[in-house]
Amino acid sequence: MTVTDPAASGTSPAPASGSTEAHPTMDITLHVWRQAPGTEGKMVTYVEEAKDISPDMSFLEMLDIVNERLIAKGEEPIAFEHDCREGICGSCGMMINGQAHGPERGTATCQLHMRKFRDGDEIFVEPWRARAFPVLRDLVVDRQALDTIVAAGGYITAPTGSAPDGNLIPVPKEVSDAAMDAAACIGCGACVAACPNSAAQLFTSAKLEHLNLLPQGQAERYKRTQAMVDTMEQFFGSCTMHGECQEACPKEISIDFIAYMNRDYVKAQFKNRKLAGQQ
Ligand code: SF4
Ligand code: FES
Repeated sequence: MTVTDPAASGTSPAPASGSTEAHPTMDITLHVWRQAPGTEGKMVTYVEEAKDISPDMSFLEMLDIVNERLIAKGEEPIAFEHDCREGICGSCGMMINGQAHGPERGTATCQLHMRKFRDGDEIFVEPWRARAFPVLRDLVVDRQALDTIVAAGGYITAPTGSAPDGNLIPVPKEVSDAAMDAAACIGCGACVAACPNSAAQLFTSAKLEHLNLLPQGQAERYKRTQAMVDTMEQFFGSCTMHGECQEACPKEISIDFIAYMNRDYVKAQFKNRKLAGQQ
């Protein structure tokens, strides 16, 4: 079916000017985890529904096409989460051929294009696998445990009112850059899904350090660190420095932040006791 290999060029071939010839398309075999609430779940194979796929489609657009065809046949469409479809909201995570968010580095599932696959490929799609992320339906998991970590301290308590002048508190460029890198975390959970221990250290450290590095985050730094790390440990496994989280992260967040978090957590054991003694 495919005329060229778009994966080789990185671009999809355009039809000749004035041509009515359709874009070359791909036929894939899709194996998808299907699981209704309260059932065991299993892989289901789709062949006819995954034919004539444009290499220009995103992975989610390919699933949309498959779902339209399933609905036309009166079958239940595949449930998957999505919102922004531009790598911002973090809702679209899934395992694609055993890799969180698929084969392209630094890319969320919604930004992955079908040109990264070849005509005739078999693609296996599964939900995140972690005890803290129970499957709700098909590819949709409950990532509430991540929200619980943020609720434990991932904010700055500040009186509301008029916004202060942006230059009132000088912040060194290196510090603001590092804080911004940590703030890029979209809360997708790929780091947990990729980790053999289902640890959430990369997520938690990113959510901690984008505040802990900045002057505005100092007042609650150690209280925040202790609360968020202790909450994390209620749901997730321990970090043994495999580094899979960093490889899977669509925002390429560095495991250096885990080192910063561990440093802050050790300090918090002393600082929080001292603060408690002053109350
Ligand atoms: S650290 Fe990366 S992989 Fe983990 S939740 Fe944030 S964006 Fe996703
Ligand atoms: S749909 Fe928002 S990050 Fe993919």
